[in-house]
Amino acid sequence: THCILIGAPVDSGQARPGCLMGPAAYRVARLAETLAALGHSVEDRGDLAPGALGSEASANPAVHHLPETLGWTRALSAAARDACRAGMPIFLGGDHSLSLGSVAGVAAHAAEAGRPLFVLWLDAHSDIHSVETTESGNLHGTPLGYLAGRAGFDAFPPFPAPVPEANICLFGIRSVDPAEHAALAETEITVNDMRVLDEYGFAVPMRAFLDRVAAAGGMLHVSLDVDFLDPSVAPAVGTTVPGGATFREAHLVCELIHESGLMTSLDLVELNPFLDERGRTARMMVDLVGSLMGRKVFDRPTRSG
Ligand code: ARG
Ligand code: MN
Ligand code: MN
Ligand code: MN
Repeated sequence: THCILIGAPVDSGQARPGCLMGPAAYRVARLAETLAALGHSVEDRGDLAPGALGSEASANPAVHHLPETLGWTRALSAAARDACRAGMPIFLGGDHSLSLGSVAGVAAHAAEAGRPLFVLWLDAHSDIHSVETTESGNLHGTPLGYLAGRAGFDAFPPFPAPVPEANICLFGIRSVDPAEHAALAETEITVNDMRVLDEYGFAVPMRAFLDRVAAAGGMLHVSLDVDFLDPSVAPAVGTTVPGGATFREAHLVCELIHESGLMTSLDLVELNPFLDERGRTARMMVDLVGSLMGRKVFDRPTRSG
């Protein structure tokens, strides 16, 4: 696979600074070298910038950094669309608001290619607020609402080709706000919350979703939020929620995705290296990308440092 790394030092989608250091941390944790060792070609396109900002405002007084978020959305959407034509984009975040743009560009590409797009959201949160419903004002809580084509995004460019609800799967969910509950209740989005995963395990619901993607001949965008993982294995995130995926569960999920051969683009989001412990979360995320891209747990090379 030709892997295209796109740095997205987005920090405007939430209030605690640090995610802007994410792309650098992934590079220090040897993401490119890990991919190359698995036989992939790697092209690092460096870090994006949000471009010139407007002065858009929202009627929701809680919302902050709207012009920055719109700037990032435009830049990321263009970069994603462009990269999809050349290989598999891997977005190095940056907070989860980067997915407003990455998925927009991926969706535009899928529409152009005439293929259905599926989205797998590996996250503690459902991120299905709109600019109007968010109470925290943190726009990293909104990308799923945008990509599903929901209302409440008037300041944003219309989403190029909204992802059908039936093509969206939330996985690992354990923190949902009231407005998000209401939104999810009226959709066909598959919600594999922790209640489901505790009962059936991770493999059965994951295989069920991947089988649907395969049957449809779909493209698959995977959005991996650090807080999908349990804080004990991934402390470097501003929004820790107890009860997340363990090291083994997360690797299993990544191996299943790899074995499906379906993933066509990937977001790595919410890593805040300022909160990390000697780089362990950055290394964990790079290890998971290794599993997503073909490394087997039993084959893991020993590594120093
Ligand atoms: N639902 C909460 C909010 O809207 C938390 C969102 C967390 N999202 C994330 N991408 N970490 O503020
Ligand atoms: Mn600021
Ligand atoms: Mn998220
Ligand atoms: Mn989250």
